[in-house]
Amino acid sequence: MFSDIEVTSPADFHVHLRQGEMCKVVTPLVRKGGFKLAYVMPNLRPPITTTEMALTYKKELEAIDPGTEYLMTLYLSPDLTPNEIRKAKDAGIVGVKSYPRGVTTNSEGGIESYEAYYPVFEAMEKVGMVLNLHGEVPSDPTSNTCVLNAEIKFLPHLRSIHERFPKLRIVLEHATTRAAVETVKSLGETVGCTITAHHLALTVDDWAGQGFHYCKPVAKFPDDRLALREVIREGHPRFFLGSDSAPHPSETKSTSTPQVGCAAGVFTSAHLLPLTAHLLEEFGALDKLEGFVSINGRRFYGKEVAAGSEKIRLRRSSAPIIVPNAFGAGTQSVVPFMAGGRINWDIVD
Ligand code: NCD
Ligand code: DOR
Ligand code: ZN
Ligand code: ZN
Repeated sequence: MFSDIEVTSPADFHVHLRQGEMCKVVTPLVRKGGFKLAYVMPNLRPPITTTEMALTYKKELEAIDPGTEYLMTLYLSPDLTPNEIRKAKDAGIVGVKSYPRGVTTNSEGGIESYEAYYPVFEAMEKVGMVLNLHGEVPSDPTSNTCVLNAEIKFLPHLRSIHERFPKLRIVLEHATTRAAVETVKSLGETVGCTITAHHLALTVDDWAGQGFHYCKPVAKFPDDRLALREVIREGHPRFFLGSDSAPHPSETKSTSTPQVGCAAGVFTSAHLLPLTAHLLEEFGALDKLEGFVSINGRRFYGKEVAAGSEKIRLRRSSAPIIVPNAFGAGTQSVVPFMAGGRINWDIVD
């Protein structure tokens, strides 16, 4: 028997809120899913590469739902300068997200390297901005690299950036492997790691042939999923929730056109807190829920809330909630994770 549980001011430290009509559909669902803070990814079209663009985007989000706190990020590209970093910091922008194609290739020997960005990382370290790493190297048949080992092959980059910039706060985003968990644990206090809700549930078998479970990085082996569960169950303070909730119109997820691939992304925002409670309970970590969704991430980012701040109350429902089949409508219809499925916890208003 469980009584209600209360969680202080949950924070989602990695979410895609998109733009245009889709943004209007998904942004209010952050709060509906139990979260007070959204750490917003910059991969719009075009990507958010300047302070001005990030501030404009933030205003758009606040106009849609002023009840959520939005922390903004820039998209790492060769055009980003140390000067822009200082400007961004002054404007309250928190981090810079690096995507796989940001990895540059050296002319000598084809070694992938982040060295071109060292002046930017140095400025970030100095002003106290956070580097958010999409920890995958690009697929490359000549080196036997594909989605299954792209994260493991990235880990040396994480080590070398941390060694070179030990005071730079780095987050390895959406970890999916035991190797990534062990690497982050072995590094210093300035290195954190996000884990999504869906990677606590899925393995390769779940997305091979099921487009709505396809995301990047892909879910890996059962033992990798076990490592993600174990590090949460142990309550490790540098691991925290970043949902990577990534809505795509349902027709881009369920395409039957051979020439068109399936969009990568799992949408979890609308039920994120009940879903996370449900999953943690399944592997015996419900007592770590508040650490995972609120305390650890907030501490890493220096966004702690005062004692007595508003709590979200969860109740184990006698009648499980059934996840809706879709949010939004028409071309902006998004199918959520576990659509039609049961979640044992619900938010009590
Ligand atoms: C894409 C990117 O590179 O930004 N995401 C990814 O690689 N996983 C998303 C996009 O192209 O918008
Ligand atoms: O699954 C994913 N979807 N992974 C990413 O890194 C990008 C995201 C998106 O923007 O759709
Ligand atoms: Zn990513
Ligand atoms: Zn993401």
